[in-house]
Amino acid sequence: MNVLVTGGAGYIGSHIVKMLLEDNNHVITLDNLSKGHREAVVGGEFIKGDLNNIQELKNIIQTKKIEGVIHLAADSLVGESMQNPEKYYRNNVCNGLNLLAAMQDCGVDKLVFSSTAAVYGEPEKVPIAEDHPTRPTNTYGDSKLFFEKIMHRYHQIHGLKYVSLRYFNAAGADLSGKIGEAHNPETHLIPIVLQKALGQRDNLAIFGDDYATADGSCVRDYIHVSDLASAHGLALKALQQGKEKAIYNLGNGEGYSVKEVIETAREVTGLPIEAKIADRRAGDPAVLIASSVKIKEELHWEPKYPELEKIISSAWQWHRKGGFSENG
Ligand code: UD1
Repeated sequence: MNVLVTGGAGYIGSHIVKMLLEDNNHVITLDNLSKGHREAVVGGEFIKGDLNNIQELKNIIQTKKIEGVIHLAADSLVGESMQNPEKYYRNNVCNGLNLLAAMQDCGVDKLVFSSTAAVYGEPEKVPIAEDHPTRPTNTYGDSKLFFEKIMHRYHQIHGLKYVSLRYFNAAGADLSGKIGEAHNPETHLIPIVLQKALGQRDNLAIFGDDYATADGSCVRDYIHVSDLASAHGLALKALQQGKEKAIYNLGNGEGYSVKEVIETAREVTGLPIEAKIADRRAGDPAVLIASSVKIKEELHWEPKYPELEKIISSAWQWHRKGGFSENG
């Protein structure tokens, strides 16, 4: 299949591109490299560009004979989304509309969308299933939920076929050691913990130890990035086989506290990794755990690396190697 991956040079996108290539697809990565890395795209064709130009999108879809699209290009920092909402609505919603318009004009009707657990907001109960109320508490979550609603209407009105995948906490790195997580600035827990282990940062803060959880720190559902990638492959195949639309959570259904993550990283690295308790980070729910029963039942998705130890050791292999050679 000829697949366009927007945002394919990013952390999750690059793992999806690699998986699609291994599955014998012809892959065209479109990325403006604002946050992604050229080196992260391990094969297929690469086009530097973004989604604000419908004509360019149409040209790519037509000349490359695109049959399906995986759309990840987006801004995704929760904190930034509350300081600069316009950036998030413009990039994540308006540019997404450009993509839909170009697809429609070119007769491409299959879309896999990168969504987030942030659409749920503060959970009423865990594990969170897909029919849980969606009440985002930040602009980032809003922007992803708006786009889900847009896809739903385009399905009803224009016949768009889509799968939206709501990721919980993506972590880890491809076992080849060639690609992994490299954000700048880094805000995610596991890379920060491993940077502290490597002496690349002075402080590691545990954001709050007074939550209503077993050890007082926040609990999250970490999912290996390669397991996320495989779900995109299954979603695309399901669309090819006639699936009309679906929304699925992606997590392991198991929660680990910040303190447990740090403790596991100490075991994996054999290093002390000193951490200090700090204030809560604004907007952090105490517990986020996915129910991924639906995608397991409907698409037969099975995570290969559900163990936190494996997720962290794959990330450790990547960080120890030093990430990408390019700078930025
Ligand atoms: C992540 C994503 C968010 C996505 C959400 C879905 C970001 C910044 N966050 O959120 O887009 O919607 O998953 O569940 O992109 N922590 C510390 N110290 C640190 C860093 C983090 O204690 O230095 C804690 C946080 O308070 C949190 C946990 O570690 O409880 C995980 O944090 P993080 O890796 O930033 O992910 P989330 O905020 O859960």
